[in-house]
Amino acid sequence: MLKQHIQELQQHPTPFYAYNLSLLRQTLQAAKQEAEKYNYHVHYALKANANEPILTEMREHGFGADCVSGNEIKAAIANGFAPKDVVFAGVGKSDAEINYALDQEIFCFNCESSHELSVLNELAQKKDKVARVALRINPNVNANTHKYITTGLEENKFGINAWELESVLALLEELKHVELIGIHFHIGSQITDLTVFKNLCTRVNEFQEWFLAHNIRLQHINVGGGLGVDYYNPDEQAHPDFEAYFALFNQFLELRPGQEVHFELGRALVAHCGTLVSKVLYIKNGQNTNFAILDAGMTELIRPALYQSYHKIENLSSDKEEVKYDVVGPICESSDCFGKAVSLPETSRGDLIAIRTAGAYGEVMSSGYNLRDRAKAIYY
Ligand code: LLP
Repeated sequence: MLKQHIQELQQHPTPFYAYNLSLLRQTLQAAKQEAEKYNYHVHYALKANANEPILTEMREHGFGADCVSGNEIKAAIANGFAPKDVVFAGVGKSDAEINYALDQEIFCFNCESSHELSVLNELAQKKDKVARVALRINPNVNANTHKYITTGLEENKFGINAWELESVLALLEELKHVELIGIHFHIGSQITDLTVFKNLCTRVNEFQEWFLAHNIRLQHINVGGGLGVDYYNPDEQAHPDFEAYFALFNQFLELRPGQEVHFELGRALVAHCGTLVSKVLYIKNGQNTNFAILDAGMTELIRPALYQSYHKIENLSSDKEEVKYDVVGPICESSDCFGKAVSLPETSRGDLIAIRTAGAYGEVMSSGYNLRDRAKAIYY
């Protein structure tokens, strides 16, 4: 319960992100234990949260790093991740980023188009190197999640479509400075219906057959991330069901001897440990509703404004009777709203408000709009 930490939280100027490191460790331990049962390798998707203490925990728990920019690779390496544990993904890698990653001799580039493969080959040739690549394949599997975070449909910009694979293989024959080591999939994020992953396994099995029919044995199968979390019960469901998640892949993914399976989890590992803590500035009576106006807004946590995402909101300072509020931020946008008609104990100026399950895609997605200061992070 977050209220247990109120004394500690009250000491800091709001708004700020508060990360519970012991909860993070419990989550990582649970994920590690379940993944190890099947000898699965988990790479942490830094895009979810790249704060140093979080990266340190990831590394100490033996996870690799899934990076989508040169700066994420820099952050991972600065934090002690070995280059052999770093993967570079992303649909638009710049030349400078590719060159940097080549210099670092990272484990693998997840490539998303034949054009990218040609550019990578050319840049690697200039350095007289051979880059290891995995082809990111668009499996055309519906992730049943918000349309902004679904990535595995042919209409999405991500990955190489099945009908392009023949020509990609022909191209790879010619490219001498890239070496195909695996295939990669990522179909979307905040996936809570595990049958979606079963459908992914079926597609991966089909692609494996296709590659074998072309006399290609793949060493690495990377099934991406996307495991969702329960935003409604931050205390009871303090981490997702890693046991069921990894067991499902073990049951449905058909592997060939010696193949390694990689996962790229972000949200599932860090969402629960983070809270955005804010103070009530004003209470304002509207025509149909009361507004609780906070000192945090969409600049600190954009998910509700961008995806209409739910985050549980709690008043840590009041035990009074519940009243409904529209909980809003100070930014000059009507979408700057954390929740409508939220039941909270009667709320007053100065009360501490917790916006829960904000450890993933919270702080990293904050902006300086309205020239706002960046919220600080504290760890407890
Ligand atoms: N691998 C790839 C290639 C990805 O694109 C992503 C996330 C991940 C792994 C990690 O996915 P996760 O396990 O965290 O679901 N800003 C959005 C989420 C965007 C996710 C982008 N890609 C949000 O706030 O919901």
